[in-house]
Amino acid sequence: MKAAICYERNQPVRIEEVILDAPRRDEVRVRLAASGVCHSDLSFVHGILPGKLPCILGHEGAGTVEEVGEGVNRLAVGDKVVLSWVTPCFSCFYCRIGKPQLCEVGERINQTNRMPDGTSRAHQDGQELNVFSALGTMAESAVIPANAAIKLPDDAPLDKCALLGCAVMTGVGAVFNTAEVTLGSSVAVFGAGGVGLNAVQGAFLASAERIIAVDTQPKKLEMARTFGATHLIDASKVDPVESIRELTEKRGVDYAFEAIGRKETIEQAYAATRKAGTCVVIGLGSIKDSISLNVFMLPLMEKRLVGSWYGGANVHRDIPRLFALYRAGRLKLDELVTRTLSRRSAEARRAGDPHLLTRANQRGLRGDARGDERARGDRLLILPAIPRSERLESLLQRNILGP
Ligand SMILES: NC(=O)c1ccc[n+]([C@@H]2O[C@H](COP(=O)([O-])OP(=O)(O)OC[C@H]3O[C@@H](n4cnc5c(N)ncnc54)[C@H](O)[C@@H]3O)[C@@H](O)[C@H]2O)c1
Ligand SMILES: [Zn+2]
Ligand SMILES: [Zn+2]
Repeated sequence: MKAAICYERNQPVRIEEVILDAPRRDEVRVRLAASGVCHSDLSFVHGILPGKLPCILGHEGAGTVEEVGEGVNRLAVGDKVVLSWVTPCFSCFYCRIGKPQLCEVGERINQTNRMPDGTSRAHQDGQELNVFSALGTMAESAVIPANAAIKLPDDAPLDKCALLGCAVMTGVGAVFNTAEVTLGSSVAVFGAGGVGLNAVQGAFLASAERIIAVDTQPKKLEMARTFGATHLIDASKVDPVESIRELTEKRGVDYAFEAIGRKETIEQAYAATRKAGTCVVIGLGSIKDSISLNVFMLPLMEKRLVGSWYGGANVHRDIPRLFALYRAGRLKLDELVTRTLSRRSAEARRAGDPHLLTRANQRGLRGDARGDERARGDRLLILPAIPRSERLESLLQRNILGP
């Protein structure tokens, strides 16, 4: 099978042939239908996120179970699943206190990009490959821990549901699980990428009265409006903290979310939070960066500054709920996908096939005139919310789309 592999930092990602072992005990093999590209994949390629190389990328995916290992009773061949990039063990301290997003086993997997026992099911030239979050969704198939597979109903459109696996769960979950945004409140979201747009959408679902989106790119701000933002701030033109104060009777917002991962914007989000308000940091910055807080103001302001990991999710509870909201027409997923890349369309570009060339820019291939049969399994990458991961796209393009 083929997979997108990072061999060297800041170098093009390569699509290469990989050997995948059969699933062992408590593992399943999943045929991936689609994978999103999260900024965290890009951060990994840039070395902002550490981890050993070579590594199969991708942690936002959905697919169909094609083989189950010994001891797996919850899943069967043919089941549709979303992949969770934290594998909960259901028995460690954090799983027991109702915080499976902080699971000790899941953490070990993310630190090593290996199965819980330190091994890998993917290899190449006799060498074991590392696999992002033990998922490696930018591939045709993946062997993953069974607890990382969240079952969806049979009618779930897998290409859209891939996004539930990271951006949607992280953004919407930060609003409901971490911040617990209340009806009628004011919210600011710094960064309107895949994650930030979903914090905007979460705030809208929570009936926040004022939803202020902050970004430096006008097209991202326009997208934020369609996801429920009531006010847009272009931080490349104005001071976002001042602008937010103007919009909140000089107080600041009840809840601020940072979905970028930069020291400066975390400090801005904190400054834009009102007294006794809540500032939630979702963005994943460099391990070398720190923020500074004024020690005199800290008690005086009574602000809460909290991190949010994977939207504070209990994925086995929350992902099916998010899917149900999507099916009811209340959660936007389709609108997040602005660009679909497939290996087939990449090949067609090289060959100049005009039909496939058009298709390459369409959202999803399901329902395509050429039928499901042709489309099945040929989609390698979905790039949600332009220009989310434009840089990773260009890293990939040099390789799969040719010069
Ligand atoms: N905490 C978690 O569990 C978790 C999960 C997934 C992703 N993340 C992190 O969340 C962050 C966002 O991920 P994403 O995939 O949405 O990224 P993205 O690149 O799609 O979005 C980032 C957005 O921030 C905007 N931006 C950049 N600099 C800005 C500035 N100075 N002011 C205002 N806007 C600015 C960009 O224009 C872009 O729209 C990343 O750091 C990612 O690693 C964290
Ligand atoms: Zn992610
Ligand atoms: Zn656990």
